Amino acid sequence: FHYPLPANEPVLQYGPGSQEKIVLKKTLAELKKKAIDIPMYIGGKAVKTGNKVAIHPPHETSHTLGYFHKGDEKHVKQAIDSALKAKEAWANMPWEERAHIFLKAADLIATKYRSFMNGTTMLGQSKNAYQAEIDSACELIDFLRFNVHFLTEIYKQQPISSPGIHNRTEWRPLEGFVLAVTPFNFTAIGGNLPTSAAMCGNVVVWKPAETQVYSAQMFMRILKEAGLPDGVINLIYVDGPVLGKVCFTHPDFAGVHFTGSTGVFNQMWKTIGENIPKYKTYPRIVGETGGKDFVMVHRSADVEATVTALARGAFEFQGQKCSAASRAYLPSNIAEEIKTKLVAAVKSMKMGTVEDFSNFINAVIDERSFKKISGYIETAKKDKKASILVGGNYNKSEGYFIEPTVIEAKDAKYVTMCEEIFGPVLTIYVYDADKFEETLELVNTTSPYALTGSIIAQDRDAVVLATNHLRNAAGNFYINDKPTGAVVGQQPFGGARASGTNDKAGSMINLYRWLSARTVKETF
Ligand code: NAD
Ligand code: ALA
Repeated sequence: FHYPLPANEPVLQYGPGSQEKIVLKKTLAELKKKAIDIPMYIGGKAVKTGNKVAIHPPHETSHTLGYFHKGDEKHVKQAIDSALKAKEAWANMPWEERAHIFLKAADLIATKYRSFMNGTTMLGQSKNAYQAEIDSACELIDFLRFNVHFLTEIYKQQPISSPGIHNRTEWRPLEGFVLAVTPFNFTAIGGNLPTSAAMCGNVVVWKPAETQVYSAQMFMRILKEAGLPDGVINLIYVDGPVLGKVCFTHPDFAGVHFTGSTGVFNQMWKTIGENIPKYKTYPRIVGETGGKDFVMVHRSADVEATVTALARGAFEFQGQKCSAASRAYLPSNIAEEIKTKLVAAVKSMKMGTVEDFSNFINAVIDERSFKKISGYIETAKKDKKASILVGGNYNKSEGYFIEPTVIEAKDAKYVTMCEEIFGPVLTIYVYDADKFEETLELVNTTSPYALTGSIIAQDRDAVVLATNHLRNAAGNFYINDKPTGAVVGQQPFGGARASGTNDKAGSMINLYRWLSARTVKETF
């Protein structure tokens, strides 16, 4: 049984008149025509509770895409019971059969449901066509195919034997069920967290963010069509504390695969710690959390490359990417030129709904994000220690629109240089170009996070210095590029410090966390 290293799924461009654009437009119209009823999926059954919550596009809040049926404690228990019931047959299914289900799901997205994965992501999470394509088509397909490949490689790993002694490793799934809790901002992460654990033979309870349900249910339906047995992944929509109360006190809780904010992950870890004596085994705790991602610019930097890295790094995906550039350090010798060009680039960004494919900026996800992001902008407007270089306006009359905004901070430790904002806001700080090394130390110590970061420099010594000095400041470090856009199989993704456990999504490092090896020695 062998799978070659897969190629990354090619990114379609959605240019004027292209076939993919015609198909996607048709799908968007179809999705918008009718508000759908969205059940939970427990033990393979569609479960409707009657407690319906409306889903609106963030960019058009007057429209209703559908209603999801919200569950309570009883449904969390049912999901765990269904998972545990499915466990034995799933864990004993030959790997070839399990693998084919996920490979088929990837192919179904690539060929049959691409426009539906992209369409539900565009409408439900306000991403433009190109962004949705990268997320809900290519990255999700890549996660499925690459994880099958990596797991095949893991299963091959065996210890040495000698005459009269035979040793082997059994790559068992964890004992119990795995909980997958996923954020709003990436459909691919929503797909990866439950499937990577399930692939390893685990059974899963999956709770997506409420603002991700529209695309999550589409993916769940694809998994079912691909042949995923009932109960292996159970998709439920419940409040976080309700989920935690049931799952984190259950004796069969075997691990959590989380992506979201640092605060929520810290709370989970604490609750799990308090309940340790209740569990049959120590649970695996895997979390990818917040970021305050930096771009450090050296005096030798190419100005055009810097402006592109900042504009794309900070504002693609409305800055609602864990990897988004959020603080930049500009050297005094070229700072004015960079600022002028950056302001012009930002002014040219068109903002509006996802259905107009020429829009670069869409809406932020919801009222909570809108309030948080606009709050930081207001703080900067009123503060003498900061000024707004471009943007700064926001409006929620039709959807949660916030202009791409650049703040200049006079203080390197200004609040918008330190805290995660998670929106289209970039803060820049101009440093004395002769104080590169001192400024590297500022980059390293200004924020508790360590997810992504870039150094932009043509001087090789500066690149080496920054790469060494910032060794622990980012889990994904980019030289002469924006700090975003990690591709599965090429740049395994994840950060440390307050950014998570750094168990690189879509890699062997991550898959090992969902396996519990048994060593068997036979003497004969
Ligand atoms: P969030 O923490 O608000 O929510 C994440 C998930 O946790 C959601 O499903 C939510 O419903 C659930 N949740 C909330 N409270 C809970 C509780 N008490 N118990 C159990 N579950 C609970 O995050 P979000 O707003 O959806 O996503 C944005 C955050 O995710 C940002 O901080 C971003 O940096 C981070 N993120 C990190 C990565 C990464 O790879 N490091 C990737 C994407 C997003
Ligand atoms: N894969 C996404 C990026 O690196 C999260 O930007």
